[in-house]
Amino acid sequence: MSKLTLIATAAMGLEALVAKEVRNLGYECQVDNGKVIFQGDEDAICRTNLWLRTADRVKIQVGEFKATTFDELFEKTKALNWGQYISENAEFPVIGKSVKSKLFSVPDCQSIVKKAVVEKLRSTYKRTTWFEETGPLYRIEVALLKDIATITLDTSGAGLHKRGYRVAQGEAPLKETLAASLVMLTNWKADRPFVDPFCGSGTIALEAALIGQNIAPGFNREFASDGWEWVGKDRWRRAREEAEDLARYDQKLHIIGSDIDHRMVQIAKENAEEIGLTDLVTFKQMQVKDFMTKEEYGYVVTNPPYGERLSEKPLVEKLYAEMGKVFRGMDTWSIYVLTSYPEFEKWYGAEASKKRKLFNGFIRTDYYQYFGKRPPRPQL
Ligand SMILES: C[S@@+](CC[C@H](N)C(=O)[O-])C[C@H]1O[C@@H](n2cnc3c(N)ncnc32)[C@H](O)[C@@H]1O
Repeated sequence: MSKLTLIATAAMGLEALVAKEVRNLGYECQVDNGKVIFQGDEDAICRTNLWLRTADRVKIQVGEFKATTFDELFEKTKALNWGQYISENAEFPVIGKSVKSKLFSVPDCQSIVKKAVVEKLRSTYKRTTWFEETGPLYRIEVALLKDIATITLDTSGAGLHKRGYRVAQGEAPLKETLAASLVMLTNWKADRPFVDPFCGSGTIALEAALIGQNIAPGFNREFASDGWEWVGKDRWRRAREEAEDLARYDQKLHIIGSDIDHRMVQIAKENAEEIGLTDLVTFKQMQVKDFMTKEEYGYVVTNPPYGERLSEKPLVEKLYAEMGKVFRGMDTWSIYVLTSYPEFEKWYGAEASKKRKLFNGFIRTDYYQYFGKRPPRPQL
């Protein structure tokens, strides 16, 4: 197959991080709102699905065109080369969205696109009957933005945040893609101590362990395009072998996750076990105010309670003050805190070295970053 236009979708604010990951895999890319666009082949489909830690999905852009009438949408969709991608037995549902476009009825757009694809495939496969759709899944999306229709095929299946390790979760777990982003926005290296003192179900600590040992985040799951004939089982096998070769299983890690709630600690341990990281991450029950360490030049990356409800305000203010008391004095440590609480710095007792706006789902948060001293350079 010739070059494909691929799209790695990204949560708002994480596009630059996704782009960096795409470039690190060897693909030049452009960044747009919520997406990173790059050229690649079948190998790129396998490798990006397996490796991207911060992207939501990888899609193939099948076509992009202006459409202001249903006829236009139908004809231009039908003109695309669907037989190149979709096998005769494929299941191909159509989902859609429309923003600031004349064609605003999403159900109508979906059924028009479905009809156009069926008609094209009928002529490709010389069929007069309906397709049974019992084979591999090819999810088509029609996304209209300001009258431009972008037609894509989803290669991922379940969103890439589904790493396959979450057997249990707490009340407000972070999405794995956001947790990985929080770690990647620091300068943490695998030989430095790493602590999440509000670990909940352990997402940040587990993502740090995967990063620390260079384990591909998708190694424990399957993808929609695993079943696509033209991508092929061999290519997937090679991409998984490459991931296995690149993992650094002998890299030692000092990662600790702790939480006041012993049930959370149990959940975090179960998740660690599911992904085989039990020996690499220590989870224990502890209140943040009891945190102590003799280690230096470590990293705290954490997502404490936000105090979303009014009644919780005094509690989180006290908690942030406790955090300040414990962490402010650890001047060789770098402290990273994600919260939506607007007065976090006031209660923590120090102004952050840097702040970055991030969205945790629909909640607008800030990522407060307190940079610690750099370790001394080794003497030559
Ligand atoms: C927003 S949740 C963290 C979710 C976590 N990032 C995840 O992905 O599952 C905040 C956690 O802080 C814990 N917590 C609340 N007060 C605490 C305290 N004083 N010390 C330590 N943990 C505390 C709660 O039990 C809860 O699990």
